[in-house]
Amino acid sequence: MKIVVVGSLNMDLVVRLPQIPRPGETLLGGVFKTFPGGKGANQAVAAARLGAEVALIGCVGDDSFGQSLRATLACENIDTNHVLVRPGGATGVALIQVDAKGQNSIAVASGANFSLTSGDVEKAMQAIGDFDVLVMPLETPLETIYTAAQIASQKRIRVLLNPAPAQVLETNLLELVDVLLPNEHEVALMTDIPLQSATDTRRAAEKLLLMGAKNLLVTLGNQGARLFDGKTHQETFIPAYPVQAVDTTAAGDCFVGALAVGLSEGKTLLAAAEFASAAAALSVTRAGAQPSLPDRNQVRQFISERNKTP
Ligand code: RIB
Repeated sequence: MKIVVVGSLNMDLVVRLPQIPRPGETLLGGVFKTFPGGKGANQAVAAARLGAEVALIGCVGDDSFGQSLRATLACENIDTNHVLVRPGGATGVALIQVDAKGQNSIAVASGANFSLTSGDVEKAMQAIGDFDVLVMPLETPLETIYTAAQIASQKRIRVLLNPAPAQVLETNLLELVDVLLPNEHEVALMTDIPLQSATDTRRAAEKLLLMGAKNLLVTLGNQGARLFDGKTHQETFIPAYPVQAVDTTAAGDCFVGALAVGLSEGKTLLAAAEFASAAAALSVTRAGAQPSLPDRNQVRQFISERNKTP
């Protein structure tokens, strides 16, 4: 089972505070830490820790952050041959604030992530050869995402698209997507339907399925996830595992990476989503983006402990 991620790498500069400051407000008392992050790299690490062979296609600058991020990924046994280094470019940076409830706000300076071209992606995918699942968040140029989706879909490789950060997508991209994985904010932005109830979610899901996505998996944080089958239009609710949240950063990335692993192993979409839900719950109990991502044994143990009857 081999997974290719086309996506971003960022250095996360994180401050923990009792609450996230409002515009114009200065708050003291925060603790500062640096973590490797970026949605693409996080999804790649999540998949690798859960046992998949993973290659990441992306871009960093020729600075110390870029060096450090590439080295970290190599330690996770991720193929970094297609993480290009842009001379004179700056590596992506995310400024993250995490509050006492583990909620975050994130500002990203994309830097080299946005210098990835369709030509880079074509070359890298040709060199990588065969693989089972393509995974992409939206932190690289949209045209690179479209190119990668086209190549994968021509080869009948499954395409997982995590539309984060949210943006409105054209049907010609959505038609290439096997599983679209938005959270509730992304669904609301993509469909112009605010999600206040399960009925809203269903209405928005129908809209996205009509736009071309074959399946839709809406993640709702500690409210679980809703899976919509594009063929049968059947809706299945996947409950969340209740946990004490420390930091929700990268929980969505963990879900995406774990889902890709489950699908590449031949699990059904529902079984893969249940596995992903356990992995994501576990990630929420730890601080940081990549340091929070669990390995296979930790997820197995978590599921078996949670499924024990009292
Ligand atoms: O999804 C979490 C990630 O979003 C962070 O690691 C940060 O780099 C931003 O890209």
